[in-house]
Amino acid sequence: MSSLHRFLHLSAIAILWLPAPSTTAADGAKVRRPAAWADLRQQVPVAGDVRAGQARSTVCAACHGPQGLAIAPNFPNLAGQAATYLYVQLKSFRSGQRSDPIMSGQAAALSDADMRNLAVYYASLPAKPPGRVEAASRGGQLFLGGDPARGIPPCQACHGPTGHGPRTYPSDAPQPPWSTFPRLHGLSAIYVTKALHDFRNGARSGTSNALIMHGVAQTLDDADMQALSNYIATQ
Ligand code: HEC
Ligand code: HEC
Repeated sequence: MSSLHRFLHLSAIAILWLPAPSTTAADGAKVRRPAAWADLRQQVPVAGDVRAGQARSTVCAACHGPQGLAIAPNFPNLAGQAATYLYVQLKSFRSGQRSDPIMSGQAAALSDADMRNLAVYYASLPAKPPGRVEAASRGGQLFLGGDPARGIPPCQACHGPTGHGPRTYPSDAPQPPWSTFPRLHGLSAIYVTKALHDFRNGARSGTSNALIMHGVAQTLDDADMQALSNYIATQ
């Protein structure tokens, strides 16, 4: 598939799931609006220098691990993640569109070149090997099939059947470098639960990509989130 086709395909799925303009989180929290569709247009490969990224990554290894596999469950794995996704997240931390007491400070010190180099470096590292999933579990059913009656979309539509990334790409291949849709498989249950709550309550909603997930997360209750987190951690 050409990159234009991929872009159109993903944008079409994405726009379907964008919530209505005046969105308010279930708990009444105000949800920030992104500036237009700028970050959906960021679905292009990121150019960077892997070796310069490796050199810059020493400080990151303290939490994300020397090989991009997190040292504790409250930190995400970065190894094998799509370069464009990583770059967009770092830019969002630096601009304040995504905020975290630890990462916002880390990203503030990075130049645009640093962010590109770090993104391609982490994307080049081998991802966590696939685990053994319970497809019949509640989490597996939601991930693969969603729950149409409750408006829950199948996660695999955007994250791929094995959580390795969009289904327009073979599941055993490295992440497409242009993707702003992350690979999920192997992220810890603690990190995924926090991310889903952040999406649902609007804490992580400062970009149009995050707003897609805000719309998805609003269909999930706490039990769904726990089941999905447990499933993703075993992918
Ligand atoms: C002291 C610990 C710590 C250090 C050092 C650190 N990070 Fe992080 N990082 C975190 C935490 C915590 C999160 C999750 C933030 C959240 O929950 O939103 C995170 C998230 C991220 C994400 C988002 C990943 C995703 O899946 O969405 C990226 C990218 C990232 N860090 C890159 C880096 C880079 C590059 C460096 C080095 C310049 C770095 N981090 C240094 C703790 C750290
Ligand atoms: C319509 C497409 C779409 C669907 C369906 C979808 N996602 Fe996402 N998801 C995204 C996008 C885009 C992002 C990146 C958000 C950002 O940039 O902050 C994302 C990010 C995430 C993240 C954050 C990962 C990280 O490293 O921080 C988690 C966790 C997640 N999705 C879980 C799910 C689950 C669970 C489901 C099913 C209930 C699901 N997603 C369904 C598009 C989708």
